[in-house]
Amino acid sequence: MDGESTGDPGERPSGGDAPDRAPGADDGDSRSGNRPERGFDPAARLAERERRGLRRDLRPVERVAARTRRAVDPGGGVPAFGGEERIVFAANDYLGLAGDERVSEAAARAAREVGTGAGASRLVTGDTGLHRELERDLAAYEGTDRALVFSSGYAANVGAIGALAPDAIFSDELNHASIVDGCRISGAETVVYDHCDADALAAAMDRRAASGGDERWLVVTDSVFSMDGDVAPLARICEVAERHGAWVMVDEAHATGLYEGGGIVGRESLGDRVHVRVGTLSKALAAQGGFVAGGEALIEYLLNAARSFVFSTGLAPPAVGAAREALSIASDGDRRSRLWENAARLREGLESQGYRVPGETQILPVVVGDGADALALADRLEERGIVAPAIQPPTVPEGTSRIRVAPQATHTDGEVDRCLAAFEAAGRELGLIDP
Ligand SMILES: Cc1ncc(COP(=O)(O)O)c(C=O)c1O
Repeated sequence: MDGESTGDPGERPSGGDAPDRAPGADDGDSRSGNRPERGFDPAARLAERERRGLRRDLRPVERVAARTRRAVDPGGGVPAFGGEERIVFAANDYLGLAGDERVSEAAARAAREVGTGAGASRLVTGDTGLHRELERDLAAYEGTDRALVFSSGYAANVGAIGALAPDAIFSDELNHASIVDGCRISGAETVVYDHCDADALAAAMDRRAASGGDERWLVVTDSVFSMDGDVAPLARICEVAERHGAWVMVDEAHATGLYEGGGIVGRESLGDRVHVRVGTLSKALAAQGGFVAGGEALIEYLLNAARSFVFSTGLAPPAVGAAREALSIASDGDRRSRLWENAARLREGLESQGYRVPGETQILPVVVGDGADALALADRLEERGIVAPAIQPPTVPEGTSRIRVAPQATHTDGEVDRCLAAFEAAGRELGLIDP
């Protein structure tokens, strides 16, 4: 597949690290005697990443919450948290449930009563009643026959696409890295279509159909795109796929738990037209893990054939317990309304300051264009106590560097105001908005 996913920052798959040889190293001299050098040079690879502006550092937080302290990267050491608390507008804990007492109590109960780890693959002895309860809850939420929980959303995508092993996959150019990797693993021929462009998809499918052949086709797309906050035209995509008898798979990672009836597919009443629905437990559901929801035969097949399910330990019971509780809290709606209020207030505030904020969801990409400007803006925001990362190429296209602002339901009005004030002051200082 020639289109790389943009995914979350740092999640872009990298096939092309530097060769394993320090720049300028001499072929002959780098060998000891006649023994060839077939090892690796991670330091040289890192240096190459640094040169290309792709080097990343970890920035630990003291706890996962809307307010926390941060530490500089201690390398392999233990971080020292100091200074003032920062307000985080960068986490995917959209409903603010990662610190909720009911959720942590459910996790603790699961650890006490079921175990801290599953101990084996689900197909061996790692399948518990708690896993089954969560899967029933997820299937009810999605309105499908069944659901199957994986150890991450990444594993769910890779496992499902790999197991379906289509002949051809039609994939949005901005799909998440785990979809890109699933396409690679499946061995399918992958056709990348223009972002959110159902006409481009239709043209690509027509072209392939014209060359004949009895092939199995899968169309795959994120529903909410993590860096752009926009939403795939799912009804149109289903329509195009149906013309060719292809299956549709939708990754709802950034919508799971946020809408009634299961993500955007539920919001748009497309449940009976989408064959494979992927979600994650690690964003709005404040736990860890992913799932596939769909028909009885699909799920039964995946639990036999999805390698990331079969050959991986079952999801840890505390994550299962936490996700169950979070799903039930999410479903009562209050947290969702609060998230949408915060997102709307932030969007209006930022736009009235003169920023461009495309998209239509809780993910607010504040596009500033130049990469250096985005980095400077992120630094100035942090000086003012706000954590919101700069996203630069190659994660996003050249000229569209941005700050990705992600509000949470638990941000107070005061915290939202502080975020807006920081954007206004920092943007003026840097000349990004009018004084
Ligand atoms: C669209 C999308 N799909 C899948 C994933 C992977 O989910 P998880 O973090 O549960 O592995 C992510 C998370 O980064 C994502 O943004």
